[in-house]
Amino acid sequence: MQPDAPPIDAHDLTVAYDARPVLRSASFTLKQGQMLSVVGPNGAGKSTLLKAMLGLITPDYGTVRFFGKPIDAVRPRIAYVPQIEAVDWDFPITVAEVVLMGRYANHRGLAGWFKRPGAQDRRLATAALDRVGMTAFATRHIRQLSGGQQRRVFLARALCQGADLLLLDEPFAGVDTKTEATLFALINEMSTQGKTVLIVNHDLQILSKFDQVLMLNQRVVAYGPPDRVVTDDNLAATYGGRLTLLEEADQRLAERRNERAHLARTAEH
Ligand SMILES: Nc1ncnc2c1ncn2[C@@H]1O[C@H](COP(=O)(O)OP(=O)(O)OP(=O)(O)O)[C@@H](O)[C@H]1O
Ligand SMILES: [Mg+2]
Repeated sequence: MQPDAPPIDAHDLTVAYDARPVLRSASFTLKQGQMLSVVGPNGAGKSTLLKAMLGLITPDYGTVRFFGKPIDAVRPRIAYVPQIEAVDWDFPITVAEVVLMGRYANHRGLAGWFKRPGAQDRRLATAALDRVGMTAFATRHIRQLSGGQQRRVFLARALCQGADLLLLDEPFAGVDTKTEATLFALINEMSTQGKTVLIVNHDLQILSKFDQVLMLNQRVVAYGPPDRVVTDDNLAATYGGRLTLLEEADQRLAERRNERAHLARTAEH
């Protein structure tokens, strides 16, 4: 490993589905221990960005290096929680087993097959389940949980992997406000311990808690610390014309008010 190679170095990532570009030339670098929030409207390409970075879809153009290496060389060091889990819901798997799957990344033998998880793996999985407050559900079938509870279990699986870089696609979707605060604190604690975290989220209220914010709408509209990039102009550019239109409407209203005030004053004289 190069000593100071950043956990993420994405360069010019470009993805098109059926020749329709959805991600254009996205580049950014994330330093170790930093927490990054990726925001943008529905369909902006946020999930596509993550999938392209991880090689789950092949970018049309561009490169990514994790810790200075291509993904295949560092996969066990990266935990990924997708927005929608591809779970085989008919497969009889308990909550505890889902979390334990996080340990498999560490047990891939040279030939690519898995060693059985041991007592230490089980301890780590139990601890991770406890950290997300889901211990009481350990023996339940994953299908028998609410959406928010499932999100917590998938986060526990990522935590017990012991990865250095976490990529979480909307980990707080469908999670209640109190649990969101708990999970956020947990993730934040991991970043203070040197883990690097990328979170796709929709809650603009919490952006100031991140080290970096990436505003995406097909292209990177803005990237940097929240106090610099979370501006009205960048929000308007990211979320399309809507905010701008609102501003224009406000402006027209103000102009009309001024005109009326002017007419009223002229009439007085
Ligand atoms: N497999 C696919 N085939 C064709 N088009 C796709 C595919 N996956 C995503 N898209 C399209 O690509 C665009 C970006 O999708 P993506 O899932 O990356 O958006 P997103 O920013 O994650 O949105 P959301 O906030 O709704 O999760 C959308 O217009 C979507 O319809
Ligand atoms: Mg998405």
